[in-house]
Amino acid sequence: MTFLLRPVGILYLSSGLLVIAQFGGDVSPRMNQVFLTPSHMVNRNVGLKVEGSSFTLDGSPFLIIAGTIHYFRVPREYWRDRLLKLKACGFNTLTTHIPWNLHEPRKGWFYFTANLDFMTFIAMASEVGLWVILCPGPYIGSDLDLGGLPSWLLRDPKMKLRTTYRGFTKAVNLYFDKIIPKIVQLQYGKGGPIIALQVENEYGSYHQDRRYMSYIKKALITRGIKVFLMTADNGDELKRGHLKRVLSTVHMKHIKKETYDTLLSIQGRSPILMMVYTASSLDGWGTSPHSVDSHLLMRDVREMFNASFSLNFYMFHGGTNFGFMGGSASLDHYLPMITSYDYGALLTENGEHTPEYLAYQEFFSSSLGIPKPPHRDSIPMAIYKSVVTAYYMSLWDVMPYLEEPISSVKPICMEKLSVNQGNGQSSGYILYETVVTTSGLLTTKGHVQDRGQVFLDEEFLGVLDHSTSQLTIPRKMVYQNNPTLRILVENQGRLAYGQDINKERKGLIGDIYLNNFPLRKFKIYSLDMKTQFLQRDLPNIWKPALFKHRGPAFFLGILRMGNYPRDTFIKMEGWTKGVIFINGRNLGRYWNIGPQETLYLPGPWLHPGSNEIIVFEEFKPGLEIHFTNISHLGWYRWKS
Ligand SMILES: *[C@@H]1O[C@H](CO)[C@@H](O)[C@H](O)[C@H]1NC(C)=O
Ligand SMILES: *[C@@H]1O[C@H](CO)[C@@H](O)[C@H](O)[C@H]1NC(C)=O
Repeated sequence: MTFLLRPVGILYLSSGLLVIAQFGGDVSPRMNQVFLTPSHMVNRNVGLKVEGSSFTLDGSPFLIIAGTIHYFRVPREYWRDRLLKLKACGFNTLTTHIPWNLHEPRKGWFYFTANLDFMTFIAMASEVGLWVILCPGPYIGSDLDLGGLPSWLLRDPKMKLRTTYRGFTKAVNLYFDKIIPKIVQLQYGKGGPIIALQVENEYGSYHQDRRYMSYIKKALITRGIKVFLMTADNGDELKRGHLKRVLSTVHMKHIKKETYDTLLSIQGRSPILMMVYTASSLDGWGTSPHSVDSHLLMRDVREMFNASFSLNFYMFHGGTNFGFMGGSASLDHYLPMITSYDYGALLTENGEHTPEYLAYQEFFSSSLGIPKPPHRDSIPMAIYKSVVTAYYMSLWDVMPYLEEPISSVKPICMEKLSVNQGNGQSSGYILYETVVTTSGLLTTKGHVQDRGQVFLDEEFLGVLDHSTSQLTIPRKMVYQNNPTLRILVENQGRLAYGQDINKERKGLIGDIYLNNFPLRKFKIYSLDMKTQFLQRDLPNIWKPALFKHRGPAFFLGILRMGNYPRDTFIKMEGWTKGVIFINGRNLGRYWNIGPQETLYLPGPWLHPGSNEIIVFEEFKPGLEIHFTNISHLGWYRWKS
């Protein structure tokens, strides 16, 4: 069957949006369109192509039914499980993004092993019978810190991210020289599963440089990329993000009739690919609980299917913003992302089937005639006995054992700090100290990015952040000796989107004033909380933890288990705000303002016997860590 010469008609999506789509009498996709899998393809001549308003793969009509999984948000040990579940649901293609900042955290230092071994992930997708659409950036968005761009780019004060500014393209070229050869081998024509590549990501909404997109396209092609290329933009930005002879694909939430007129005007009749069909949206700390209506979702997909749209489900499985990888959104205010990236996706954060997963599976199986594979067992969860964090070490106790602080007359932001082999500090905390000789009013003029706890010696004075820009230092506290003013600033994640990414700097990004005079002579400590930071050799300065102890401090507990560690959720009940580490791995942030109350702890990151848990608590500790087998993310699903 063919979609050629299909009449154009009008269709309503259940979201209430009028669309124009191609549909005819015979609209349900047939088996061969979705059943072509990497193992069936012997002759690899032409790959993915556009013929009229449909895709073909080596000449046969092909409908893309894709779902996004990020290898870096899922423990490597579970990659195969998640990919098998994608396949078993009825999808035929995996979409994944490559985060530059994780692969090149320092200029010229590349990492492609363990959880960053995307080549193995892609090869695994192929073994499981999935095609792959790859988004190599350089910018990928994906709710990551700086949209996946490395923060060391920001050391250049004139940096213009995502443009042909030389400082940017030079870095892109070095990065592409490393990653593109790895991708080239996995292309369709070479026997690999990659059938398409997305050029950049939603550039239409940024659009700072007309020549940039063609520059990136050329950078891909000259390095040997031969597969089908596409761009992805929301409906209003299609024209600005479009590249000649590259297929424009659409971000679903913005579908209007105009979107189709635009598509028609820029590329004529063409297949429609909903590249970012999203289940839910991101969650920020302190946002109110919301719900996911799976019923609506299902109706949307039915209708898209009926109209022979190809689609990509973002996220099929979201996973976790482990460590400090999560970024921030800028809506009417700055909104740092929660640690879970469950996203209301078809698989939960821990890889469990959701009711929607089963509904989709049923739908794909009945409308495509795919036999439903046997149900995969869920990964068993454990509820471990609560762990008492019996030991404690205040941040002030640790300071003498840290690297020499940096002395500076004025404050220096994280990115500019001369640490990390000249790459600046990317994430975590940073502490600024200076001696004050008078009491009075501290004002920040917005220079605290993002959240600073203020102390006089060890006495807590208050918090300065995006919404609080002044604080009083009481007279009685300065009356004798000249105390040290300490500002402990947390980087809560750089913006993932928007024009303002170029302005992102963290820590103290300018002067702080006391009675209108700028403070001077700082000592600056970089507290990046990386594994090396936690595992430095310290004399045994842990003390027994008591209820009177408060943050900022490290708390230590031991989780003991038998021979078969399992997945679990950590419940930080009674704790206030901080970061949690298991065996030196950063699981991410917790914060009692919610909505997230539990953190996913993957079983493969535990080992038989004793496991070390270190909590960095900024305020009031709970002294016990609880475990549960149910996640509490502060939202719920409509039962349809
Ligand atoms: C699919 O589209 C046809 C019109 O082409 C319509 O008659 C049918 O009801 C639609 N089915 C669904 C499930 O939306
Ligand atoms: C969680 O644990 C309880 C008690 O052991 C058990 O009854 C329940 O089935 C478990 N739920 C999940 C989702 O594992």
